[in-house]
Amino acid sequence: MSFETHDARERTKEIQAEFAARGDALGWFDALYNEANGDNEKIPWADLEPNKFLRRWAQKTDLQGNNRRALVIGCGLGDDARFLYDAGFSVTAFDISPTAIRWARELHSATGIEFLAADLFDAPPEWFRAFEFVLEVYTIQPLPLAMRPRVIDAISDFVAPEGRLVVVTRGREDDEEPLELPWALSRRDLSQFELNDLKLISFEEMLGDEEEPIKRFVVEYER
Ligand SMILES: C[S@@+](CC[C@H](N)C(=O)[O-])C[C@H]1O[C@@H](n2cnc3c(N)ncnc32)[C@H](O)[C@@H]1O
Repeated sequence: MSFETHDARERTKEIQAEFAARGDALGWFDALYNEANGDNEKIPWADLEPNKFLRRWAQKTDLQGNNRRALVIGCGLGDDARFLYDAGFSVTAFDISPTAIRWARELHSATGIEFLAADLFDAPPEWFRAFEFVLEVYTIQPLPLAMRPRVIDAISDFVAPEGRLVVVTRGREDDEEPLELPWALSRRDLSQFELNDLKLISFEEMLGDEEEPIKRFVVEYER
């Protein structure tokens, strides 16, 4: 890990802790994007590339959009939304941070992606079960564990009948304690999706190329 990445991670943890101490679990995201002031290296997850685990999964499954309606949850700077757009989806992407959304719009201005500032917990009612493909990458893991079931319920609500949901997340064993941000998900955490009428289609475990490889889960569901 470079010094810059290390510093960005430490600063991210500081900002998250400052907001958490005030009982605010969500405000730190926009504060971090704001403080970065256009420098993506200040945002630990923003590498201006589509997620490589998503890419691997998409290649393996030969993902084709065919104009299907996709929703990208917590899209950040929009590179995964762009990836789906390039694969032929009609894409709506949202994030709670208005700063991230302005930034994403600038980066992807040449596309027809609809970028919106919105809160997962207070989304437009017309999004209920409206999307044929829903993508969630790393939005569950930085939210407090106590909120996890609510986050999973809210994400599930966007998936249309017969629609698909793909979740890309850090993974941990059921008996492992999630000790620090980002709080990895276990299979037991993920089983909450199945309580929301979503059927598990595939579950893949992949290792990152970090010095100490970090485990990711790529999980696909169908309603
Ligand atoms: C760890 S980042 C991942 C961003 C992006 N998915 C990626 O992989 O680059 C989590 C994102 O979720 C957004 N987020 C957090 N809580 C949210 C909520 N309640 N509603 C919508 N977006 C949220 C944050 O602003 C942040 O951009």
